[in-house]
Amino acid sequence: MVEKSSKGPGPSGKRIAVIPGDGVGKEVIPEAVKVLKAAAAAHGREISLVEFDWGADRFLRDGTTLPADAPEMFRREYDAILLGALGDPRVPSNQHGADILLGLRFKLDLYVNLRPCTLFDQRLTPLKNRGEKDVNICVIRENTEGLYSGVGGFFKKGTADEIATQEDINTRKGVERIIRYAFEFAVGRGYKRVCMSDKSNALAFGHDLWQRVFKEVRREYPAIESSHMFIDNLLMQMVRDPSQFQVIVTCNLFGDIASDVGAGLVGGLGVTPSGNIHPGQVSLFEPVHGSAPDIAGKNIANPMGAVLAAAMMCEYLECNDVARGIEDGVRAAIREGATTVDLGGSLSTLAAGEWLKNKVALS
Ligand code: NAD
Ligand code: IPM
Ligand code: MN
Repeated sequence: MVEKSSKGPGPSGKRIAVIPGDGVGKEVIPEAVKVLKAAAAAHGREISLVEFDWGADRFLRDGTTLPADAPEMFRREYDAILLGALGDPRVPSNQHGADILLGLRFKLDLYVNLRPCTLFDQRLTPLKNRGEKDVNICVIRENTEGLYSGVGGFFKKGTADEIATQEDINTRKGVERIIRYAFEFAVGRGYKRVCMSDKSNALAFGHDLWQRVFKEVRREYPAIESSHMFIDNLLMQMVRDPSQFQVIVTCNLFGDIASDVGAGLVGGLGVTPSGNIHPGQVSLFEPVHGSAPDIAGKNIANPMGAVLAAAMMCEYLECNDVARGIEDGVRAAIREGATTVDLGGSLSTLAAGEWLKNKVALS
């Protein structure tokens, strides 16, 4: 599917590692790669793509998850990683998914998970009378700590007295850098509002730190309107009136949940991309959705989340012309109804990818 490049990219060429992963990841990533190649060619940009077969099949075959030298190899040899999804019913523990996806987020210190939820067309939202201006929310999720830190354990596992702990790790450095990123992002993109969401009314230690750091950092950005909402209220408010939000910054678990709610407001998981970013370093781009075992193998998954993730990656790599070409292609497809069934169209995954490829080739 992805060509192994025999020669490396030119001095200005971008080197992309591609991990399709599992389930629909293996269907949407080939489409995203086709679209990316066509858009790059249209703008005279050179990219090289190398595919990695990490995922459930490989794990079940030989036990490989994330090879020990992978993070260093990515830092040394690649500019970015494009990933599909990980998760397979044959691996109920999701061990390979945790090792590969969470492993890369943690080991590459990709502390920002940037998840834009953009309403490309009014028809796509389940809300009444809402347009693009009303639903344009960027969820900025802390991506390297919190309840995802993997600190915890079992005691007396499997007995009636069993205890399971899962620690919520919040560091001064981690909280401060994500909150500062959110403000910088707002300033850089011309957003006026940042809302921090936590659960400090119940989580009196970890989220007290979020409160104190937020109050400190926001003083540095007097031009940005900053606010706070508890996560339970935030999710309700997102559904009730999404226009009140522009940038939302929150912890790892809450950001995971808020970004799926955001996806629901703009057409579902088929259309939302995400960037796992450490500014200035090799970063990873993927759709927000998972491996979708319920539709995997049917050639009906929407490739747009993966395609838009490739566009985010291009923007990150300062190939803004390519990014814009891809995003315009997606807008055109939605406008013209050239979509998969989740968005009301009748195209297969392959046909939707082909349509986008042909469109961006003219961009
Ligand atoms: P999911 O995102 O895979 O699917 C949720 C719902 O959205 C399903 O109804 C699915 O059919 C639909 N959907 C997802 N992607 C779609 C697409 N491209 N087009 C149209 N519809 C789409 O979430 P889940 O069902 O909770 O999880 C399935 C597996 O994926 C689990 O193993 C989970 O751990 C894993 N997962 C992985 C990632 C990731 O790799 N980043 C993200 C989420 C879930
Ligand atoms: C996501 C996914 C992952 C997460 C899972 C698969 C571990 O839901 O990327 O949103 O919770 O971060
Ligand atoms: Mn998720």
